[in-house]
Amino acid sequence: MKAMINVALPKGRLGEDVYDIFEKAGFECPSIKETNRKLIFENKETGVRYFCVKPSDVAIYVERGAADIGVAGKDILLEYTPDVYELLDLGIGKCRMCVAGKKDFRDDMEKTLTVATKFVNITKNYYASQSREIDIIKLNGSIELAPILNLSDVIVDIVETGTTLKENNLMPFETIVPISARLISNKASYKFKNKEITELVKQVALCCNKENE
Ligand code: PRP
Repeated sequence: MKAMINVALPKGRLGEDVYDIFEKAGFECPSIKETNRKLIFENKETGVRYFCVKPSDVAIYVERGAADIGVAGKDILLEYTPDVYELLDLGIGKCRMCVAGKKDFRDDMEKTLTVATKFVNITKNYYASQSREIDIIKLNGSIELAPILNLSDVIVDIVETGTTLKENNLMPFETIVPISARLISNKASYKFKNKEITELVKQVALCCNKENE
């Protein structure tokens, strides 16, 4: 008998795009499109059970085995380094992790740079690789306010369209890393449900290649 695959989907627009790919790949679960507050959807025929979770929590569910697989942004994987397998780049949810600041900002290498961010580890690793001394200010959202209010010199944050920076008179200075959505797997699940997961990855890969053409 085929084992059910438990899939952690990120809530929101990215999750909808991910589900569309899974649906095309043959893992449909029509009840997910009904607008209600349900969080778990399953289709015994296609062998999938979807959980809708906060995007930043997907990796936790997968790492701990509450979900066999999931879709998480590369930003989350780099920041929290969960012990999971990264199986596939879905080529959606594309954006980049950038250093940004006020247009007239000039870096004084003699001074410690203050950096506001949600992504403390990505920021630390990036500036360590540049041997630049920094003071990190951890924020949880609206990071763009920090340089405007002189809370920090620069920010490290996600830039997708660039609109948020532009509308706040900020600009990107450097790209640290490009980001996209990745299909991840729990390590034990990958071993014990290998046939099911491998087949799903194969079908999903075919569908996301088509999307990206
Ligand atoms: C993200 C990010 C930027 C914005 C970038 O914020 O932190 O603020 O999107 O997108 P853009 O380049 O297309 O304008 P999010 O909406 O996740 O909210 P946040 O302020 O809570 O981080």
